[in-house]
Amino acid sequence: MVELGVNIDHVATLRQARRTYEPDPVWAAALCELHGADSITVHLREDRRHIQDRDVTLLRQTVSVPLNLEMACTEAMFAFACELKPEQVTLVPENRAEVTTEGGLDAASAESALREALPALRQAGIRVSLFLDPEPRQIEIAAALRIEAVELHTGSYALARGAEQQCELERLRAAGALIRQAGMLLHAGHGLNYTNVGPVAAIEEMRELNIGHAIISRAVFVGLGPAVAEMKRLIS
Ligand code: PXP
Repeated sequence: MVELGVNIDHVATLRQARRTYEPDPVWAAALCELHGADSITVHLREDRRHIQDRDVTLLRQTVSVPLNLEMACTEAMFAFACELKPEQVTLVPENRAEVTTEGGLDAASAESALREALPALRQAGIRVSLFLDPEPRQIEIAAALRIEAVELHTGSYALARGAEQQCELERLRAAGALIRQAGMLLHAGHGLNYTNVGPVAAIEEMRELNIGHAIISRAVFVGLGPAVAEMKRLIS
């Protein structure tokens, strides 16, 4: 079964637009859980533009499905994760100027920081996932590091149209096969929505999809519960 991780960063983005207390991502997480989310994903960015430290602390105490913490590959974030102990961390590239995560992590440049941090993360019982572009070289490095999971960046697939989208889907399928052959778990995310998610969810042994923008956008009109339930129905 493909599991749905709901990314609730956008709920915090709305709150931060007024620097107030609502809407609360902690409430959002509870609703997502009630309507079938298999995990809750948040990205604690260095600039704290949406999710705050207070949110992750409360989510750690209240969420009963696995918590997936997206974060940059930095010493400060590794220390934070080891203390928080989410079930999973997904390591992503981070750039202050970007609107959202652009491109996958460059596993080669992150390799030495990862080698150093992995023992502590494992000791803390945290599963490590790398957010990577569907490129064989990136996946080889993840496999050499014995990383548990790779989340394939689906942004190019989501932006492409027609024959080009089919090519992007083939790239995802081929990368998925390499990930499986290396014994790693296959995850995917970024730009997935109610119309493009089907073929990605159908990739062999797809294990987890992390979806934020489309679900929170639909929630504005139909409510968070129905938006989560509909996505869950589409991917399973
Ligand atoms: N996966 C990762 C690693 C991400 O950085 C993001 C965006 O925060 C997502 C999934 C969700 O992307 P979207 O909001 O486009 O669904």
